[in-house]
Amino acid sequence: MSDDEVRLLKKQGTLKLEQADHMIENVIGTVGMPLGVAVNFLINGKDYLIPMALEEPSVVAAASNAAKMVRERGGFKAESTEPLMIGLVQIVDVKNTTKAKADITVKKGELIQLANQQDPVLVKLGGGAKEIEVKVLDTSTGPMLVVHLIVNVLDAMGANAVNTMCEAIAPKIEQITRGKARMKIISNLAALRLARAEAVFPKDVIGGEEVVEGIVQSYALAAADPYRCATHNKGVMNGVIAIALATGNDSRALEAGAHSFAAMKGKYQPLTTWKRTKDGDLFGRIEIPVPVGIIGGATASNPTAKVCLKILGVKSARELGEVMACVGLANNFAAMRAIVAEGIQRGHMRLHARNIAIMAGATADLADRVAEQMVKEKRIRVDRAKEILEKLTKK
Ligand code: MEV
Repeated sequence: MSDDEVRLLKKQGTLKLEQADHMIENVIGTVGMPLGVAVNFLINGKDYLIPMALEEPSVVAAASNAAKMVRERGGFKAESTEPLMIGLVQIVDVKNTTKAKADITVKKGELIQLANQQDPVLVKLGGGAKEIEVKVLDTSTGPMLVVHLIVNVLDAMGANAVNTMCEAIAPKIEQITRGKARMKIISNLAALRLARAEAVFPKDVIGGEEVVEGIVQSYALAAADPYRCATHNKGVMNGVIAIALATGNDSRALEAGAHSFAAMKGKYQPLTTWKRTKDGDLFGRIEIPVPVGIIGGATASNPTAKVCLKILGVKSARELGEVMACVGLANNFAAMRAIVAEGIQRGHMRLHARNIAIMAGATADLADRVAEQMVKEKRIRVDRAKEILEKLTKK
């Protein structure tokens, strides 16, 4: 690498290299990413500013715009389940799986107690292991048991607490079943930790009956065709993951949870539903797993994440999940509206062109003019941006 490249990597951002070095291994730098704030969000009667970190243009504006449209009807309504995560303990080499299942069920109380001994603080605050369920599965390597340990993780994402508990109860389950414990790990299908949100988008505000119909039909396509559904859900995750990155949450856990939840009924389905109300407005609803925390992990070690949580003003992980659900719904709506009303490229291209102009060396005040010209010509390329810029600066 050149000296400049090395200097670039060593450059300190808000996350200091030393801090980053404690977070992961073999650290050589940190990666910067735009952090924006979506506005206009009114959720359960409370105003929110939403920090969003992502590289894609339009998403912050789209969320803000969608939120503005539902404000006049009282904003978003959101709710959530208790923050229950599921841990798995896999037991193989069991002679009589039916008997083993029954034996585990009898010893459920003892197992839950053992799990809770691993995290007295969580238990003191009202969380901890709550339930045990056992499944017998026929698999490609023969019959096996899987024990689900259900844990209320309160304001943590919960993976550490749940994994520790699973490891702690595994030997006891081996004793009970005389089998062998293999996997002891959290499930990312956080199907018991859900956030739900809904909103009415007034037809006159969103562009009339045609737009309402277009969005309902777009939803119908997503429900019928996984090829569209993946993109539909991607639009939802644009909002959800941007908040996750801003607040130091595990975006992979959210993605894994969302998409496996979307396929839970045996067919990959949209995370949102859309319908026309009797007044002709558009009604949207979302239900999504939200394995997120406001304590521990990067939410605590990344200073920017801490500030973002402060901007958001959420008091619990549940509230954070509810906000994510609303923003996911807003982004999903905005994407469908843009596509059915004017085609997504119009808005996208304007912002894309601005980025290209800046890449070509345009200052902020000239970037808009260069971008405008490129969009008009439908030639959005760095070489063209340079030409236009040259002309503008020569004058
Ligand atoms: C792009 O990031 C997301 C969209 O493709 C979502 C959608 O098609 O609904 C615009």
